[in-house]
Amino acid sequence: MNVLLLFGTTEGHTRKIAQFVFQRLEHADHAVKMVEAMMLPASLDPAAYDAVIIAASVHVGHYQPRVVDFVRKHHVALNKMKSAFISVSLAAAGQDDDDVQGIARCVEAFSRDTGWTPTQLHHAAGAFRFTQYDFFKTWAMKYIAWHKNVRVVAGQDLELTDWPALGQFIDSFAPQNAMAKV
Ligand SMILES: Cc1cc2nc3c(=O)[nH]c(=O)nc-3n(C[C@H](O)[C@H](O)[C@H](O)COP(=O)(O)O)c2cc1C
Repeated sequence: MNVLLLFGTTEGHTRKIAQFVFQRLEHADHAVKMVEAMMLPASLDPAAYDAVIIAASVHVGHYQPRVVDFVRKHHVALNKMKSAFISVSLAAAGQDDDDVQGIARCVEAFSRDTGWTPTQLHHAAGAFRFTQYDFFKTWAMKYIAWHKNVRVVAGQDLELTDWPALGQFIDSFAPQNAMAKV
């Protein structure tokens, strides 16, 4: 398959997730175009691809505005295609009802605002990126870590992503390309 992989990131973790997805797809012999939402070419047309994967992270209940704008603009084409959304959040690492329902509401709002219903959805737990935060974000995120009972160390990043689960999601979305030459 010819796959468009578009991602939005604020502190950089979703870039790492997109790089993982890129490598996984290439390993399965798919052709992948990876694009960061902040560097979108105006001419980018999702309909030119066999499938689209969009990854974005949640900040105060919302995904990156550049991702939202792109999806809203292209929702008609996206709805006709094989498509996946990877929602990156800290709530995805939680097990309680607040986390599960809260992140489900974020995805519903995103779908409503953009008009896009992805054929598949994956919730990926994100990361605490203390090396990227300013003073205020550091305190807010320390509070969230404390609230979630997650032990963090000052100045150190902490990844909560379940990489094998993400890999399995990608493998089921885009199985090995049987047409590829060996
Ligand atoms: C200021 C701020 C607000 C956040 N708000 C939420 C939120 O509302 N819900 C949530 O589950 N995670 C929230 N997060 C966690 C991020 O989604 C998580 O850190 C993710 O890995 C960020 O990905 P990125 O580095 O690609 O931007 C927030 C993080 C920050 C720094």
